[in-house]
Amino acid sequence: MTALLDAAERMDRDELEALQLERLRATLHRAYDRVGHYRAAFDRAGLRPDDCRSLADLARFPFTTKADLRDNYPFGMFAVPEDQVRRIHASSGTTGRPTVVGYTEKDLDTWADVVARSIRAAGGRPGQKVHIAYGYGLFTGGLGAHYGAERLGCTVVPASGGMTARQVQLIQDFRPDIIMVTPSYMLTILDEFERQGVDPRTTSLKVGIFGAEPWTQEMRREIEERFAIDAVDIYGLSEVMGPGVAQECVETKDGLHIWEDHFYPEVVDPFTGEVLPEGSEGELVFTSLTKEAMPVIRYRTRDLTRLLPGTARVFRRMEKVTGRSDDLVILRGVNLFPTQIEEIVLRTPAVSPHFQLRLTREGRLDVLTVRAEARAGATPEQRSAAAASVAAAVKDGIGVSVGVEIVDPETLERSVGKFRRIVDERDRPRD
Ligand code: DLL
Repeated sequence: MTALLDAAERMDRDELEALQLERLRATLHRAYDRVGHYRAAFDRAGLRPDDCRSLADLARFPFTTKADLRDNYPFGMFAVPEDQVRRIHASSGTTGRPTVVGYTEKDLDTWADVVARSIRAAGGRPGQKVHIAYGYGLFTGGLGAHYGAERLGCTVVPASGGMTARQVQLIQDFRPDIIMVTPSYMLTILDEFERQGVDPRTTSLKVGIFGAEPWTQEMRREIEERFAIDAVDIYGLSEVMGPGVAQECVETKDGLHIWEDHFYPEVVDPFTGEVLPEGSEGELVFTSLTKEAMPVIRYRTRDLTRLLPGTARVFRRMEKVTGRSDDLVILRGVNLFPTQIEEIVLRTPAVSPHFQLRLTREGRLDVLTVRAEARAGATPEQRSAAAASVAAAVKDGIGVSVGVEIVDPETLERSVGKFRRIVDERDRPRD
């Protein structure tokens, strides 16, 4: 295995930290010298790039937020002339302007390298076939996975998202070893296998590399059992690069190793911004170490997780993401993330993994209803027992009362990419 690793994956911690500091200082200079936003922000804080003499000094520098990127729409955060930008991606964003990101030739090269490294950590090897069902387009999932798989020396099937019946046919006919897709869309594909009467455990697939949305250990177990594959987690975000910022290793499945030679992580208190010690849960913040077109300094991801020491690799790990602060539901003073409901739904017999959370308002009270599909063949008694058991588990485990509706199989909306777990109907006028 060691023979397969990149040079950076074979470094020891001291070598890695020396490399990080050198790259960090170069990035701070690049940002200050070439991007008006960073120059103004550092000046306001009374800091110069050379004030960063150790990795810990980074904590003195100002954060960057999604609002900063929006304010500089479309290309104001770029640190190179536009003709040196080889690719542009954008994340849709539910409100207002999309967030735009740019890559130089070298950035695309780095990206392909880290995704290749990710696929290898997931168990992929040159010569294998990779079916990519992440969307192609402005979303970074499809093209990011694509060039990484090619870089590793794999054969790529660029299926993109959607047309689920065809996904099943391509998997049957082309016999891929690996699938890269959102976990929620994998469940849609699973239904389609069953609809076509094909046992999903009999496919050629060995590994699934799932990301772009939070998913739980319970979901891993469900997917691994139903498909007879290894399911591993891949993390990333467009502002930092795209998929391939961090990857779970198939041999340990114990959280995601952050490719720290390119992306420097911190976890901060989401309210005070204070850097938290390793092991504490908080908001993940990234500083790019090698990006040319769009360096990011202390970018607030809004993703909640904790940093842990390395295991299968020298790089630190991040625990599976609990959720985005945007997805936090505060119900009568109790904080709740969709992943907590996912754990409960998936542990309940007679209920399928398809569920949605509906938020409504009754008078001045917010009401959350868990709508979950019954498994095919569940009896009415099993369904009402399941509803009671989900409600009780939420009450006991999270400490709040929610409504639970067990609906018929195949009635809830299906994912074709990132799934919208929460349907917020609170602001809808009543009819
Ligand atoms: O979702 C990049 C990506 C594509 C990652 C394919 C993995 C696979 P964005 O559209 O910018 O980029 O969305 C980034 O998605 O801040 C997280 O909230 C969420 N996210 C991404 N990966 C994971 C994951 C891509 N493994 C946002 N677990 C991030 C939980 C994830 N959340």
